[in-house]
Amino acid sequence: MRKTIIAGNWKMNKTHKEAAETLKKLAELVIDRENLGGVEVIIGAPFTALESAVRATENTPIAIAAENMNANESGAFTGEISATMLKELGVEYVILGHSERRAMYGETDAIVNAKVLAALKAGLKPILCIGEQLEDRETGKTNEVNGTQLKGGLSGVSVEDMKNVIVAYEPVWAIGTGVTATPEMAEETHAFVRSVLVELYGNDVAEEVTIQYGGSMKPENAKELLAQKNIDGGLVGGAALDAEVFYGIIAAGK
Ligand code: G3P
Repeated sequence: MRKTIIAGNWKMNKTHKEAAETLKKLAELVIDRENLGGVEVIIGAPFTALESAVRATENTPIAIAAENMNANESGAFTGEISATMLKELGVEYVILGHSERRAMYGETDAIVNAKVLAALKAGLKPILCIGEQLEDRETGKTNEVNGTQLKGGLSGVSVEDMKNVIVAYEPVWAIGTGVTATPEMAEETHAFVRSVLVELYGNDVAEEVTIQYGGSMKPENAKELLAQKNIDGGLVGGAALDAEVFYGIIAAGK
């Protein structure tokens, strides 16, 4: 049975004190696994807040993700953070290949793939982000772009390791815009993503992969999105910054 996983991506928001305060509120809302109806919860926080976030969520059903990492194990990479450093903090997941990093920091499929492989090697679970630009969709390239990013990001990932990978489909034109893909539109691309996973890993493994939707997911639209056959959760930006609002999305996933 595929897991429903609702993850927040705080991006460059919250000091470590604000992170601890928000997570304390979220933990109070997420009373126990039974209360979650099987939904798994992750919060992606800035590097500076990770230690506080891990501490604030100890003995709760909330897991912590980093929002990036360097693919190298150590060395002369000023300002960078390694997978081992994250793992030692108690971080379980890492968001990789977010469209903002691809657009603003030149992250190619090859760079993202190196990070995915390094994360798996260090025992972290990657959340691999893919998604098309509006121009891609308008020119009929949605599947081509997402297929290329997915295959590029998963290059060299074994069947065994695929059990620890989450895929997040985030149409770039829906991120931070308040313009959400319709459930039908999102499901169409999620079904395509699933078909590529079947091509790469076979039906049994592909059917177990959690494919999250990201792009202006809110409590008001989450239920309809999560009701779609191949939408197994969400990667939530703005709506994850407030514990009550984010819990509204978690509740929609039950
Ligand atoms: O990674 C999730 C993020 O890109 C979605 O942002 O604010 O549209 O939920 P938002």
